[in-house]
Amino acid sequence: MLEIKEQFLADLQNAPSSEAVEQVRIKYLGRKGVITTLAKNTDFSKLSPEEKRTFGAKLNELKNFAEEQLASAKDAASTRNLGAKKSTGLDLTLPGTGRTLGALHPITLIQMELEAIFQGMGFMVIPSPECELEYYNFDAVNTPADHPAREMQDTFWMTNGMLLRTQTSANQCRTMEKYGVPLRAIFPGRCFRNEAVDPSHENTFYQCEGLVIDKNISVANLIAVMKTLLSEIFHRDVVVRLRPGFFPFVEPGFELDVRCLLCDGEGCSTCHGSGWIELIPCGLVHPRVLEYGGIDPNEYSGFAFGAGLTRLAMMKFGIPDIRLLNAGDVRFNEQFPAFVP
Ligand code: DAH
Repeated sequence: MLEIKEQFLADLQNAPSSEAVEQVRIKYLGRKGVITTLAKNTDFSKLSPEEKRTFGAKLNELKNFAEEQLASAKDAASTRNLGAKKSTGLDLTLPGTGRTLGALHPITLIQMELEAIFQGMGFMVIPSPECELEYYNFDAVNTPADHPAREMQDTFWMTNGMLLRTQTSANQCRTMEKYGVPLRAIFPGRCFRNEAVDPSHENTFYQCEGLVIDKNISVANLIAVMKTLLSEIFHRDVVVRLRPGFFPFVEPGFELDVRCLLCDGEGCSTCHGSGWIELIPCGLVHPRVLEYGGIDPNEYSGFAFGAGLTRLAMMKFGIPDIRLLNAGDVRFNEQFPAFVP
């Protein structure tokens, strides 16, 4: 009987469909089935009454077992059939559709990190308008209409005479007017220039302007803040250099360059082969700008900087082409681990 049971299970396992399971049923439990005829083919006269009783019980047990096994094999086979038949529509055996989680854009990540670093140094984080008056974007930062520096920036003008700000410096005098002195603030935000787009130039990019005004502010304060900023952002030693730079709203003005973190100074397309990236232009606030902001330059001095957020993000995350940032491709965005600084 044990052999029959083993053979039955083996047959059942090899039955792929409902039809095959039915064949197994007929083979074992049909009218001429192996189990059905087991009793008929046994010579009871040779058995003791005790043996007859155990034979009967075992036979019943085997029958019940076979019936149960057949029933569940039939269920399983019909579920499989259902899946196969519906393969043109709903396939229940396929893995579910995963829900994709949103991710923070690398610019957002770097902005959040910068804000946290500066807040740690006691800076206010101030929102500022993208659509600006010509006065704040140019005149109030010492760039009058006939000033040659205006030519440095191709501007998107609006039909109402306003403009899309070309620099976050546009918010310097707004901030001085609103908060007065002493002042320690950053204003991160989007800027626009009518530029031809290439791997390192965009017409839409992000800056983070910083402004500190107090008594006795000097270049030493500026350098200390820049060093703190860069070491915290890159979590590694970065090589920087200060070059004289001209900007109408600072005197003296500097270019703070960082050695290209993508190629380690070897030269690549991001740094235009120079090995250096211009990262943070900065300087001491021009006395005339303080005056525009209603602050007495004889009593107060300050420093300002305009960090390129877009460049910082490219350096930090190793993004080789600026155009990826505005492409709106989620496959790009998803690669940046969301974190809250
Ligand atoms: N606004 C300048 C630009 O967009 C950057 C800049 C330079 C900002 C020097 C500053 C500064 O605050 O001191 O090119």
